[in-house]
Amino acid sequence: MSHNGTTEVVRPARTVRGSVRLPGDKSISHRYAMLAGLANGTSRFANFSTGADPHSSLSCMEALGATVVKRPDGVIEVTGVGGTFQKPTCDLDCGNSGSTMRMLAGLVAGHKGTYRFVGDASLTKRPMQRIKGPLEQMGAQVELTEGHAPMTVHGGTLTAIEFSAPIASAQVKTAVLFAGLGAEGTTTLQEAVRTRDHSEHALRAFGVELERGKDSISIRGGQQLQAIEATVPGDLSSAAFFLCATILFPDAQLVLDDVGMNPSRSTLLDVLASMGLQVKVLNLEEKHGEMIGTIQVNGAAELKGAEIVGDLPALIIDELPVLAAIGPYTSTGVTIRNAKELRVKESDRIALVVQNLRAMGAEVEEFEDGLYVPGNQKLRGGIVDSADDHRIAMAFAICALRAEGETTIHGAEAAAISFPEFFPLLNQISER
Ligand code: S3P
Repeated sequence: MSHNGTTEVVRPARTVRGSVRLPGDKSISHRYAMLAGLANGTSRFANFSTGADPHSSLSCMEALGATVVKRPDGVIEVTGVGGTFQKPTCDLDCGNSGSTMRMLAGLVAGHKGTYRFVGDASLTKRPMQRIKGPLEQMGAQVELTEGHAPMTVHGGTLTAIEFSAPIASAQVKTAVLFAGLGAEGTTTLQEAVRTRDHSEHALRAFGVELERGKDSISIRGGQQLQAIEATVPGDLSSAAFFLCATILFPDAQLVLDDVGMNPSRSTLLDVLASMGLQVKVLNLEEKHGEMIGTIQVNGAAELKGAEIVGDLPALIIDELPVLAAIGPYTSTGVTIRNAKELRVKESDRIALVVQNLRAMGAEVEEFEDGLYVPGNQKLRGGIVDSADDHRIAMAFAICALRAEGETTIHGAEAAAISFPEFFPLLNQISER
């Protein structure tokens, strides 16, 4: 139990209504922070994520010699090192952020020097062998502590490799592509499941040429990056919580403006539509390769269940906790399989979803690689624990909207890792 953190009490709602603008996408913000930190010139980002994680990336870039200015109008200015990192005089503290640690390890690997990465208790338990493998194949040396952080990367001149990704992970893909930037020759990466492609778009935006094959992507080493100006699209993974709140009530209506609609992320909308959410996407535009649009949604007349199996979990990995948490209210239940990766996220998300659903009186079956939540269940408010995992705190706030009685969420402050505005915004759109 996270007894030191803050507690939120969430009351059931009658419905959900309103219009919300979301802070910038966490994944895109990380990539912009890192690439801007390496680039020539000053980049400017509007609507940069307000989450703690991308700010860990900004601090690490400062430790590597970049200058970061948080302007009063909210714009973040990053002046890059112009291709050569400064030797850090301190550890690179990634906080809770696996994205920072894994992707930045790739970026520094091609730069001569020793870089020590540390993180919080949760990050220190997460697997890092997955990046050590390819980075060492390219010629870097990576020391782990029993497979985890603290992690020391000894960077230098790398050699390009051909890498076939053994797990569906955009962080590992990015680590290899970023390392490829600092390698001699052309690095090619193959992925069986097409994971989120923000790194590819961000690299191109900063002036890097990439080549896309059918299932592969190639990057030539030695290319220079030029600063950009960008507005970060709203975070669809943050939107997911409010979309799942909307689907719970037949008369709910919500408008989400300027949300990232990158096709490698938007599978969630197809899943929710198949469960009964009425979805309209308006004003689609493209900026720096990223799609942005307004999402207009209405609740489900009948909330149907979902089978999230095969390649699907990898495409909506961050949204699985909230989809499971609304499972009891569906007509046919929610099945999630082939989602073992959930066990090595900020927490063991399978175990924690099961524990918290049971705390609210739900029946649920746990598998090594997923879970089954039967439908047509009535839940009662209970005491749930985020275990300091942001997505667990937010998933159970949504689950609480249809329970009977109040739900107490311990460790609710974890939401700030990706979405500090979550609880006030949820309050704003909930009608009671
Ligand atoms: C992310 C990739 C995913 C996701 C994480 C962000 C990214 O992790 O869970 O929240 O920005 O590339 P994996 O690469 O471990 O699947």
